[in-house]
Order: sequence, then C-alpha cells, then structure tokens
Amino acid sequence: MRRTETLRRMVRETRLSVDDFVYPLFVVPGAGVEKPISSLPGQFNFSVDKAVEAAKRTWDLGIPAVMLFGIPEHKDPVGSEAWKDGGIVQKAIRAIKKATPDLVVMADACFCEYTDHGHCGVLNKGELDNDASLENLARAVVSYAKAGADVVAPSGMLDGFVGACRESLDEQGFDQTVILAYSAKYASAYYGPFRDAVESAPTSGDRRGHQMDYGNVAEAVREVSMDVAEGADIVMVKPALAYLDVIRAVGDEVNMPLCAYAVSGEYAMIEAAAINGWIDRDRVVLETLTAIRRAGADMIITYHAPHAAKLLAKSR
Ligand code: PBG
Ligand code: ZN
Repeated sequence: MRRTETLRRMVRETRLSVDDFVYPLFVVPGAGVEKPISSLPGQFNFSVDKAVEAAKRTWDLGIPAVMLFGIPEHKDPVGSEAWKDGGIVQKAIRAIKKATPDLVVMADACFCEYTDHGHCGVLNKGELDNDASLENLARAVVSYAKAGADVVAPSGMLDGFVGACRESLDEQGFDQTVILAYSAKYASAYYGPFRDAVESAPTSGDRRGHQMDYGNVAEAVREVSMDVAEGADIVMVKPALAYLDVIRAVGDEVNMPLCAYAVSGEYAMIEAAAINGWIDRDRVVLETLTAIRRAGADMIITYHAPHAAKLLAKSR
C-alpha cells in the first residue's frame, strides 16, 4: 500500500487542508506600511490599509481566518489602547470585515503589546495583578466584538480569563462572539521572534508566573478543562511542535475544537534552515503541519498558512 502515491493517498490517516489554517497578521499605525519583520522572514508589520490587502490575499487562497495582533501608537502602564474603540486592532477589524466579510477575524487579546513594561496586564508592586487585569481584558474583548471580531482570543494565561470575557460579552449583547482560549500556553523561548515583531518583551522579569512550566502535561489538561467550564468555544495548546504530546493529551481528554499555535520561533527555525539550503522548505512545512494535525489539532495558527495553502493547491 506504499508503492505508489495513489495507493498511499488511499490509506493516509491524516490530511492537511487549507480549512485547518489561521494566519496571523501584525497591524501597526500609519498608512502604506509593509515593513518586513527581520526575525520572521516573509512576514510583515502592516498598516490597516495593507492589512486589508493581506487579509484579502489570505481569503483568496482559501484560508478561513486571520488572527490580528496590534502594535499601538502609545504604550502606557495599563495598556489602555487595547480597549479604545479607535485602537489599532479595532480599526483593522472594521476595515477587514468590510472588505472581506466572510473571512473569520480573530483578535488576540492581551496587554503585553500595549503596556510600557511589556507585562500581560496591570502590575502591583512589580507583579502581575491577575484580577485587576481581568477587568481590562473584559473591556478589550467587548471592544473587539463591537468592532466586528468573530472570535476573541484571550492570550494572557490569567486565572479566570475565559469566564470574565464570556460574562462581559454576554452582558453587552455579544453572546454570539466566539472565545478561543489560549488555555495551555507555555512559558516558552519559542516566542522570541514574535516579541521582536511587536516589541512586547518584558522590560524586567518574565512570564513564568502565569504561563505554564514546560515540564508539565497533566496541568495542561487541567487548564483546558477549566477554560471549557468557563465557556471557551475553542481551546489551544501553544507552542505546537515541541508540545505534540500535550496536544495529544488534551485532545484525548477534552471533546472541544482544539487549536495549536505553531509559534514564531518554530517558523523562524524552518525559514532559517531553508534560507541556508539545509532543508527542503516545502516538504518540511507540509510534514510539520501534518504532524501537528496528527497529534490531534483541529486547526493550526501558522505563519506558513499562505505558503502551505499554495503547496496544497498545487498538489491537487
Ligand atoms: C501574547 C502572545 C504571544 C504570542 C501570541 N500572543 C507572546 C507572549 O506570550 O509573549 C506568541 C506568538 C508567537 O510567538 O508566534 N499577546
Ligand atoms: Zn501577553
């Protein structure tokens, strides 16, 4: 059954499809901006007008969704631009939904891109104040929903963040807004290139006080179960490639749509090796994404989404 491609096709257990992908976009202030991100070759910081064009290209490739990240004009200690109706992500949501209404627009909701200290919320004596941060998070997701986001994605790993978002959304009439919870998000060195892209590295300390320890897997199942109980519609494991066992464990335990985030460092490693001619990019991209699906992920947030979509279209 392995002799020809047609035979192999008949018994292949895991299929990769363009339907599986979510493509991240980084939105910055200004107009006509399409600035390459040096640590993520092939990825850009886009002003809203250019993000609209990128979203249109994404949709035309058959990719169903984008995930928006914003880099605000001004950072402050609480990250207030995250919940301003005229904020950068809110503008991008409105413009993209207008230009490509059927494209699912997801908005990452955290404060590390918005605070001047780079932490994921409000600080109290130098430490993240969980419950004070929840109030601001609820404001931010309501504001994204108001702008037209189909999905809000709280990413700060704060205790109770899904419940706080669900409650505020429902109260404000956004009962149909989907919550994608960054449920099992590890304190990972693989986020390095992302933090360069959005200037969100903490000025002091790290995120190990709220993101997960990479030695743990039972805890991931626990975290996911709590988010489901709080009303999450989709749950996430992040990063992906170094955590395939976690994806499997969560998928076996929890009967919910499961998302994996193939993060910036995973993309950067493949691109760096490919640019040097050390690996075959096309084959490694498809093999890696298929492995994440094989582990049990229903959808994958990946910077390789457009590239993989083109490869899949070619192979049909
Ligand atoms: C937090 C957030 C991060 C990523 C997605 N959302 C960074 C962090 O926790 O420091 C990482 C994504 C990536 O590395 O591709 N807003
Ligand atoms: Zn954060």
